[in-house]
Amino acid sequence: MKRMLYGVICCLFLVSLAACGGGTDKDTTKDKGTTTNKTEKNAPATNTADAEKTFKQTCAACHGADLKSGYAPDLDKIGSKYKKNEIEDIIHNGQGQMPKQNLSDKDANAVATWLAGKK
Ligand code: HEC
Repeated sequence: MKRMLYGVICCLFLVSLAACGGGTDKDTTKDKGTTTNKTEKNAPATNTADAEKTFKQTCAACHGADLKSGYAPDLDKIGSKYKKNEIEDIIHNGQGQMPKQNLSDKDANAVATWLAGKK
């Protein structure tokens, strides 16, 4: 008799767990949906095209359209010297002879991500 009671309690416990689990699953799906949307907006493909365009407009005059033919330091292997956020920092604040660049956070982020991949 005691055993049966234990079994029943156990079943009830599992059922309530499953019910809770179901609720959480729904929430997670919602969260995932939002995150996916955000990621899609920053899709790498669009970023690379945008980044190259921004670079040609903003940086190429000094660094060269091919990243290494300008008077300013070569950037064709810059990814092995600086991390993305360091490049972003240089864009926003300038460095030594380089004046700070007037780019939006989004554009600076895109260019920095693209350059950080140049190794
Ligand atoms: C007005 C010319 C000019 C423009 C425009 C310019 N840079 Fe520079 N950049 C320089 C010069 C000059 C240096 C070298 C600075 C120093 O160390 O004295 C430099 C350095 C850098 C460095 C560090 C290089 C190293 O090896 O330490 C990075 C990264 C960089 N620039 C990225 C960019 C990006 C990205 C853009 C466009 C958003 C840009 N620069 C636009 C002139 C420029």
